[in-house]
Amino acid sequence: MQTTPNWSLQQVPDMDAEQFRQWQMLLEARTGVCVSDQRRVYLQTSLCSRMRALQIDDYQRYYDYVTDGLTGTIEWSALIDHLTVRETSFMRHRPSFDCVGRHLQQRLQQSDGGQPLQLWSLGCASGEEAWSLAITLEQAMAQVGKRQNYGIWATDISLKALEQGRAATYPASRMGGLQEAEIRRWLSGRENGQLQISENLRERVCFSRLNILELAQAPIQDMDIIFCQNLLIYFRRWRRRDLLNMLARRLVPGGMLVIGLGEITDWHNPLLIPVADDRVQAWVRRDDNADQE
Ligand SMILES: C[S@@+](CC[C@H](N)C(=O)[O-])C[C@H]1O[C@@H](n2cnc3c(N)ncnc32)[C@H](O)[C@@H]1O
Repeated sequence: MQTTPNWSLQQVPDMDAEQFRQWQMLLEARTGVCVSDQRRVYLQTSLCSRMRALQIDDYQRYYDYVTDGLTGTIEWSALIDHLTVRETSFMRHRPSFDCVGRHLQQRLQQSDGGQPLQLWSLGCASGEEAWSLAITLEQAMAQVGKRQNYGIWATDISLKALEQGRAATYPASRMGGLQEAEIRRWLSGRENGQLQISENLRERVCFSRLNILELAQAPIQDMDIIFCQNLLIYFRRWRRRDLLNMLARRLVPGGMLVIGLGEITDWHNPLLIPVADDRVQAWVRRDDNADQE
């Protein structure tokens, strides 16, 4: 009879080279994320936290479990919450949000107010990036003195991250990137030192699960802003290029695509004009209709 391992007394077991390769390939095939050799311990620790919950003490058995049938699919979704790096913060890269703010001001000035503005935080983690976009747009509207209807998509592969985003409640100690006035204006105090995003913003953001590898099937298009930071860095260069080409086609003419600084080099798309600002990596879609989809 198999004895249940006493996990509390065990260290995370080492996986052999073949097992590591197998898990690397599975993760990349399903999410695009490459796990480097340096992150082997991180992978082991993440797998073990799920294996512990299921009382499975062998990487191979767990692999077979995850890749088998409906139970495997359900388990995969729980595992993803342990495997993904979900580090984020409000206004994480302020120059990028400032750039978006200036761009939105221009668009608002030129707009007849007919079409709602559409923004997208892709790989939104626990939502701070989406709320930062909402605050940036609200501030742009206040600057220009003109309001326009808008909606924000916030998508991520992790259901846990999306749940946190929807709750829109964060510890007061994690307001890092926001200025005092922004906190006072857009968040309100809750019990236990938590702050909640104001209802005005909450009703604007729709959190939804999307694996970026399934972008082709996603019905999200005609975006005014696509903001995708600290996600593509985990992907191979060819995949980053393919995804960026697809994102370029999801912009309206005059829409802006923003990624993290240095997340792509030597990439050019005929639909896009790079933003001339060394502090950001962003492009604006040309006004012409040169779409080659
Ligand atoms: C490091 S966080 C970045 C969060 C935010 N964009 C920022 O810059 O602060 C990366 C996010 O990408 C998500 N992610 C990883 N692989 C993904 C995939 N294939 N599709 C969609 N989201 C993915 C993770 O769940 C995680 O929340």
